[in-house]
Amino acid sequence: EYVHKRRSEPADDLITRLIAAEEQGDRLTTDELIATCVLLLNAGHEATVHALGNGVKTLLQQCWDPAWLAPAGIENLVEEILRFDPPLHLFTRYAYEEAEVMGHTFQRGDQVALLLASANRDPAAEDDAEIFDPSRPARTNMSFGGGLHFCVGAPLARLEMQIALPILFQRCPDLKLAADPRYSNSYHFHGLSELQVTR
Ligand code: HEM
Repeated sequence: EYVHKRRSEPADDLITRLIAAEEQGDRLTTDELIATCVLLLNAGHEATVHALGNGVKTLLQQCWDPAWLAPAGIENLVEEILRFDPPLHLFTRYAYEEAEVMGHTFQRGDQVALLLASANRDPAAEDDAEIFDPSRPARTNMSFGGGLHFCVGAPLARLEMQIALPILFQRCPDLKLAADPRYSNSYHFHGLSELQVTR
């Protein structure tokens, strides 16, 4: 209904821009437009919510050091939070044709689960991968996927975290965990259902 309305009454909003978006003469169909909005809401909003929640939890559990949140440390801190506790721990793919990868043969139609969180802790890629260490040299981690479908929102998500975390801990420097953090029982997201804190 809203899309329909914006087609005849354009406004300064995202839906109007998506309606106007054009590539080589093609516009999005209404179904494509709705699918894009769902994708942006799920991918863009929920992933960042969980990234922030996991980040706050990790900082409280790790007895955060103010230097981590200072301008010189914040980029590394955010990379380490994303590596250590990624909000999307798993993505799946389907094999379109028979393929052999590292000695394993996939048949056409096989579903393959890619454990991004596990790759982030690959001992062959990181030293002491199980240890949270914001001073480790930031390497490309798997939290935003890879290849063709690499997250289009990665720079925005990083920026949101780099801005929000220092503000929160500046305003609430005595934040403490009041109960064990509870992860939600979700297949796709690796995020908290609640994080009880005191200030
Ligand atoms: C910390 C926050 C975020 C994380 C951890 C994250 C993670 C990911 C991952 C792992 C993928 C790859 C999916 C795949 O391989 O199939 C992805 C794709 C995507 N992300 Fe994010 N994302 C985050 C924030 C955002 C934001 C803020 C936006 C948009 C404003 C966004 C938009 C998208 C879109 C549109 C795709 C699909 C790209 C494609 O299929 O070509 N994400 N994201």
